[in-house]
Amino acid sequence: MKSKELIFLALSCLSALVQACSGHDHQTREWSQEELDELDKKWGAEFTESYVLTAYRVQWGYAGISTFAHLQYHKCLTTPSELFDIAIIGAPFDTAVSYRPGARFGPRAIRAASARQTSFRGFNPRAGINPYASWARILDCGDIPVTPVDNAVAVKQMTAAFTELSARAPSSPALHARPKLVTLGGDHSLSLPALRAAYAARGGPVRVLHFDAHLDTWHPAKYPSYWTSAQSRFTHGSMFFLAGEEGLIANGTGTPSVHAGLRTRLSDLGDYEDDDAQNWVRISADDVDELGTKGIIESIMETLGTEDPVYLSVDIDVLDPAFAPGTGTPEPGGWTTRELIRILRGIEDLNLVGADVVEVAPAYQGAGEETALAAAQVVFEILSSMVKRGLSEMGKTGVASMEEEIFIEEL
Ligand SMILES: *[C@@H]1O[C@H](CO)[C@@H](O)[C@H](O)[C@H]1NC(C)=O
Repeated sequence: MKSKELIFLALSCLSALVQACSGHDHQTREWSQEELDELDKKWGAEFTESYVLTAYRVQWGYAGISTFAHLQYHKCLTTPSELFDIAIIGAPFDTAVSYRPGARFGPRAIRAASARQTSFRGFNPRAGINPYASWARILDCGDIPVTPVDNAVAVKQMTAAFTELSARAPSSPALHARPKLVTLGGDHSLSLPALRAAYAARGGPVRVLHFDAHLDTWHPAKYPSYWTSAQSRFTHGSMFFLAGEEGLIANGTGTPSVHAGLRTRLSDLGDYEDDDAQNWVRISADDVDELGTKGIIESIMETLGTEDPVYLSVDIDVLDPAFAPGTGTPEPGGWTTRELIRILRGIEDLNLVGADVVEVAPAYQGAGEETALAAAQVVFEILSSMVKRGLSEMGKTGVASMEEEIFIEEL
């Protein structure tokens, strides 16, 4: 007998022995549905199914394996049978940054910081709804496995993943033709693949609402180098320029996109030329002093309206480094967390088709995880607005009783 065969034989014997000794009977005993239900009532609810109020099953915020807001986890890319209305999807990628790396740890940090969000106590008083116990099936779809060693491959992976998920049938087809993705970044470059997917899903360009200290419409030539390649054009400061070039962002005169919270240094005022050519309206961080959050909200809503599809991109560096130091390119003089949250609450009537929250680099945040907490709250506000908008669509499409039925059934 060859030595390989001997080893195999020995292992088989050993495994038979272990099975015999470890109470084979116990493993195969039949459990009644009642017993299983009892176990589930006592110990279940590691993850909660959104749109179901689980009154007797409270998961303590700090317990369990971290998914966003303790939502049900499915690796949606490999489980197409799990339909969703909104997917939380992580893109742990940060090799297109120009300063501090580390946003590849953003999705984990944001999930951890979302721990106190649960369907049990998820009612958002400002919106008047609980996004985790309403009509929408919201799943944590896990992370896209993105390579950190080849950006050309990484862009392909992200484009394919976002496109695949955006093309899925939604869980509530009466309310929308396509599910929505809310991406946890990752550096800001992921907005290019995300916009490609949004374009593909809708068959046309979208408008963008972009919260950031920086323009991110920089022409790749604004990062001058003797050493260039096709791939070096793709950075976390040029992705909106590239998206514009690809025709993914509506750029007609009547359909501008919006930057809000700007305060970056420029090469010179010429930097605004590309931004103007791509039809962006700029709201600066300082504007909040003259206009207040109310004025900022009005300015955004007047520009974008409530009908055109809008992709929302929130770079956490729109916040002042006092509130969000855990980010790749911090700029002093930004908004407070309260101001940003207030503004997000004020724009709930936008027709959001997708969103991202990017540039959370937890290695630079404080022990109190203030940056990731802010990002998790931003996601909560975005989900609240998306779900609330769906409710008003219900009114229009005549399936208004759906939400009531769900509540009656569950309570
Ligand atoms: C405007 O969009 C078109 C495609 O719709 C694109 O070809 C063009 O380059 C865009 N213009 C700018 C300045 O980005």
